[in-house]
Amino acid sequence: DAPARESQRSLLEVMKTAMNFYRRELKTSPRAIGYLKKRGLSGEIAARFGIGYAPDGWQALQAVFPKYDEPALAEAGMVISNEAGRRYDRFRDRIMFPILDGKGNVIAFGGRILDAGEPKYLNSPETPLFEKGRELYGLPQARVAIRETGTVIVVEGYMDVVALAQFGVGNAVATLGTATTPTHVQKLLRQADHLVFCFDGDKAGRKAARRALEASLPQLADDKLVSFLFLPEEHDPDSFVRANGAQAFQDAAKNATPLGRFLLDTLAEDCDLATAEGRAKMVFVAKEMIPKISAPVLRLQLIRELAFAAQLSPEEVTSALGLAQAERS
Ligand code: CTP
Ligand code: MN
Ligand code: MN
Ligand code: MN
Ligand code: MN
Repeated sequence: DAPARESQRSLLEVMKTAMNFYRRELKTSPRAIGYLKKRGLSGEIAARFGIGYAPDGWQALQAVFPKYDEPALAEAGMVISNEAGRRYDRFRDRIMFPILDGKGNVIAFGGRILDAGEPKYLNSPETPLFEKGRELYGLPQARVAIRETGTVIVVEGYMDVVALAQFGVGNAVATLGTATTPTHVQKLLRQADHLVFCFDGDKAGRKAARRALEASLPQLADDKLVSFLFLPEEHDPDSFVRANGAQAFQDAAKNATPLGRFLLDTLAEDCDLATAEGRAKMVFVAKEMIPKISAPVLRLQLIRELAFAAQLSPEEVTSALGLAQAERS
């Protein structure tokens, strides 16, 4: 309806004005420029991603919003009120990463602290513009490279996307610190035939890969390929590409583990396949996963592999999974 569209427009206006302010502030902050240089970012790549700097002040946004009290600033998540009703900027003394929607509108920000401190990243809250679990950082910038390669690489962080782009790997997007959702996967598989998840090599990254696996199952199709690139423990995509170069990253992405393999490895984990109990447990755990696979032929293939590992027939596994046998003509 018209009033809602109108208020949406004023929120978008707030975000755009804020981004332009932060970009100008970056140009006059040697400390922020120094930080980005230290992280190896060129001015060109910073401009491409609209990276800026939120200065250190409680109401710095007043410089561009003379009506600092207007509700749109709070609704857009840029201004917070304390208990006494006093308003202040959410983002202070942080490197600012604008998050864009598909049309290139700024809908949220991620802000990184320059030194050590908590939280390392501060993100916009959910607002009428920004629904976490739907949006992907870097998608508008990656669109051409995704189309050209038919591949999209999904990483965890802002710096991963930006560093890969600087090294010429332009088809990466990030999930913004939230778990990968089926909506994310659906959105990406509409644009690419090959999806490569590449999370950090640490424990959190491996857990993120499990979540991404589960989010992918109901979105799979037999003409799509979803795979998982596991980095060495100490690396994330940013540090990996800086240490080893773009070619090494591309080679690793090409050799990423296909979802089917990852799924079977995951199922076999914690199961002693030398025992009947271990093989039974594997099929029991599979019941939570295999029926969710929306690619019918891949599902048959995995049932066959699971049956082999479980020392059962595919028919026995099919019925143990609670699935109906394929109809015979
Ligand atoms: N994240 C977040 N809030 C935090 C920590 C992380 O929203 N307190 C999100 C950010 O999107 C971040 C991503 O999770 O980019 C991955 O986190 P992490 O690996 O810790 O950060 P990096 O992206 O590697 O950041 P950097 O290289 O700047 O340390
Ligand atoms: Mn991490
Ligand atoms: Mn196709
Ligand atoms: Mn990381
Ligand atoms: Mn990092």
